[in-house]
Amino acid sequence: MSKIVIAIDGYSGCGKSSTAKEVAEKLGFTYIDSGAMYRATALHFLNEKLSPLRSEDVVKGLESLQISFQHNSTTHQQETFLNGVNVEDEIRTMRISERVSEVATVKLIRAELVAQQQKLGQNKGVVMDGRDIGSVVFPEAELKLFMTADVDTRAKRRQIELLAKGEHVPLEEIKLNLESRDQVDSNRSESPLQKVSDAIEIDTSSLTFFEQVEQIIDLAKKVKIN
Ligand code: DC
Repeated sequence: MSKIVIAIDGYSGCGKSSTAKEVAEKLGFTYIDSGAMYRATALHFLNEKLSPLRSEDVVKGLESLQISFQHNSTTHQQETFLNGVNVEDEIRTMRISERVSEVATVKLIRAELVAQQQKLGQNKGVVMDGRDIGSVVFPEAELKLFMTADVDTRAKRRQIELLAKGEHVPLEEIKLNLESRDQVDSNRSESPLQKVSDAIEIDTSSLTFFEQVEQIIDLAKKVKIN
């Protein structure tokens, strides 16, 4: 299969990351979790007591920010590193979920992370998921998908994920967080979450994980390269 760019955008918690990861694995592509980069940035600003809303703090924060990904050969998972420290678990906590949307509204932060994402995908053969991948990061992506699911389904899935990591969070709290992130992500002035006209919508509310993955792989196989 030719090396293409698969851009997957959509609302928080509709299974983009796990689906994208599996699609990448099956196609022998590289998976890049752009949300993890925003999460790591949010953690960095918290650690350094910097406000993403103060421009001098943003400059300072970006100067000292280094994000990388490494493959863990034991768990076969990709892990996120912030300035050389493995932060994979920490960036998935509610503490970060509650702060990340604010960080993601800042123009300078987005410009830096978008540039890094474009570099990571420059050789193609990538599956990247996020909110602005098909619209801003890779507007020329050969395959663009927009994933949705109803909020109750998303909240239940997220609760199971958090529980597996030892964090018990009431369903209502998760639902409120998802709704508030949807709201901020869709209405911010900088690269809001939107379904671009050439994206294919996949509603995962009633699909199994396996079906989601298969659907995307079928679509990828049908892509014609000029
Ligand atoms: O995909 P996620 O839930 O891990 O993303 C965390 C947050 O980062 C999400 O609330 C919005 C933001 N984000 C973004 O603005 N643009 C991206 N490409 C990816 C994530």
